[in-house]
Amino acid sequence: MKPQHDNTADKKEQVIEMFNSISGKYDLLNGMLSLGVDKYWRYRVVRLVKKKKPETILDVATGTGDLAIAMLKTGANTIVGVDISVNMLQVAKKKLSATPQSSVTLQLADGEKLPFEDASFDVVTIVFGVRNFDNRLAGLKEMHRVLNPGGTLIVLEFSMPRNPFIGLPYKFYFFKVLPWIGKMVSKNSYAYIYLPQSVEEFPKAEVFAQELLDAGFSQVNKQSLTFGLVDMYEAKK
Ligand SMILES: C[S@@+](CC[C@H](N)C(=O)[O-])C[C@H]1O[C@@H](n2cnc3c(N)ncnc32)[C@H](O)[C@@H]1O
Repeated sequence: MKPQHDNTADKKEQVIEMFNSISGKYDLLNGMLSLGVDKYWRYRVVRLVKKKKPETILDVATGTGDLAIAMLKTGANTIVGVDISVNMLQVAKKKLSATPQSSVTLQLADGEKLPFEDASFDVVTIVFGVRNFDNRLAGLKEMHRVLNPGGTLIVLEFSMPRNPFIGLPYKFYFFKVLPWIGKMVSKNSYAYIYLPQSVEEFPKAEVFAQELLDAGFSQVNKQSLTFGLVDMYEAKK
């Protein structure tokens, strides 16, 4: 694994290798590096999803499954979590085995090429996943395709805070401290360098909102959470 993002290498292969390698420490590091706030961010997604009263939910890039499992609270009768990393899904499956009767199923699949029929879900969610796509527009179009007419896509993604009083110390933490802790705990020297790099490379909110419209969504709303550290987008099909 190279210590910098290599544009010439296949990004998808790098992403799969990276998440397979850190899967065992992913939850621990999430909690440590966000001081537990990641749970609040997922709770905000679940709260918004619940308002839609969905029967069917697809969670793309479900990772270790926390959001898919938390979405049991929405009362949906079908919740499908897909991810491209077999090891991340393995961790999710272990958690799910504690709730065997649940309506959550997990599947190995690429969010840019979803193995579902058109118009299959009321809500699609993707939390900290879209930034990792190789071809983001293709992924957004796929999520649009599998949504029912009138359905909602909810995207949660990191952002760089615009307020300099928050932004400057946060940048120091994000680019200097976080990669060091990440490397110590995960033993992967690349993954937690890639994280701030990929957040910095992710388009600004206005540009991403336009990409959602380009992918076919008709209406896009955005909320900033936690001083602009994270943006939550809601897009209507
Ligand atoms: C930062 S983790 C987020 C996991 C989870 N959503 C969460 O909130 O903790 C990103 C996940 O995206 C997955 N991923 C990356 N590219 C993907 C793709 N093209 N299709 C499906 N999953 C993908 C990775 O394997 C990884 O599990």
